[in-house]
Amino acid sequence: MYAKRTQWDLNPNPLSVKLEAFRKEGISYLDLTVSNPTQCRLDFPADEILSCFRQPADLNYEPEPKGMLKARQSVCEFYSARGYSLDPDQMILTASTSEAYSFLFKLLADPGNEILIPTPSYPLFDYLAGLNDVRLRPYQLFYDNHWCLDVQTLRDNITPLTKALILVNPNNPTGSSFSEIEYREMINICKDYQLALISDEVFMDFPFEGESLKSFLAESEVLCFVLGGLSKTLALPQMKLSWIYASGPESFLRESLSRLELIADTYLSVNTPIQNALPKLLALSGPIQSMIQSRISQNRNLIFDFLQRVPEVDYLHAQGGWSAILRIPWGLDEDKFTLTLLDKDEVYVHPGYFFDISGNRSVVLSLLTDVKNMHRGLEILGKRIEGFVESRGK
Ligand SMILES: Cc1ncc(COP(=O)(O)O)c(C=O)c1O
Repeated sequence: MYAKRTQWDLNPNPLSVKLEAFRKEGISYLDLTVSNPTQCRLDFPADEILSCFRQPADLNYEPEPKGMLKARQSVCEFYSARGYSLDPDQMILTASTSEAYSFLFKLLADPGNEILIPTPSYPLFDYLAGLNDVRLRPYQLFYDNHWCLDVQTLRDNITPLTKALILVNPNNPTGSSFSEIEYREMINICKDYQLALISDEVFMDFPFEGESLKSFLAESEVLCFVLGGLSKTLALPQMKLSWIYASGPESFLRESLSRLELIADTYLSVNTPIQNALPKLLALSGPIQSMIQSRISQNRNLIFDFLQRVPEVDYLHAQGGWSAILRIPWGLDEDKFTLTLLDKDEVYVHPGYFFDISGNRSVVLSLLTDVKNMHRGLEILGKRIEGFVESRGK
């Protein structure tokens, strides 16, 4: 009766089973994984945000497939303050970044075609690809004091069916961006194999102190689509607004834009009030991003203090984003460790395998976590690790 593309394994993993049991029994736990900014006790400028809405124009419906010009212009102005000169004609608004991916998959890939994705990375790709009948070909990022791109396996993974190369820049959850050489390699690979480049830059506004991140915005040598959106840029995922910025050689660019316009016209999924509110909302990016950056920096400081106290744990160096990856001591199995931590200590962290981090020794924490929870959670995590190290030494 149902399409094969929806034949998912819906069995919950052991952590979800435990969390559900906690919920049913009313047991509270320390959640160090919350990445939904609206649930992290952040002090948003509520009145200013709400006053961006309630505009008389919200009662009109005059849909523009690529999104209302004023709204697209406001995104371009936002980037212009960051040194990019963008053309609103090359921008398409979508209801989410996930929807932006779907539009691009529809534009670039026929059923059975392949898209290159980084691994580790965030788990939604499997679903997005499956729902659009495209196949994923993962390419490896490996950790050697920092995250590096394995350029050779990336090239080896390309087949005549490959249509696009996705990068997540900075990546979730590794927080890694690219060196100048890797950046160049990506462009060369796309040129050599006629691939479109999709750069997911939703976390670009959140470099860590002393780090700089390089965007693919306005890339001109290859057909390139940069993704961004309010879910991270303003930490307002409930507003449901993202964008695709297309650039590249003129011949490809114009054709892509007309096709994307028709895809967007088929759904017209971006609502009018958010587009009317966008110029004012983006003007709040300064205070909102400072608030998020301050939370990230407090939590990173807590993690660095923790590493001093528990030297058996390593922090995997990252350049930006909302996550931190800790490598737990050799001999600990991340799967059992995260389950024990939840079951016995009521602390929830993500195991690395959720994101395809190899080695079975990683846990992933959200840097948006409430600072008190992070403090307490790290204390408990440290005790459990020290207990393990002691028993291993005996
Ligand atoms: C790297 C990355 N891209 C895209 C998304 C999805 O964003 P949106 O809420 O705009 O669909 C996420 C969600 O966490 C993400 O981590």
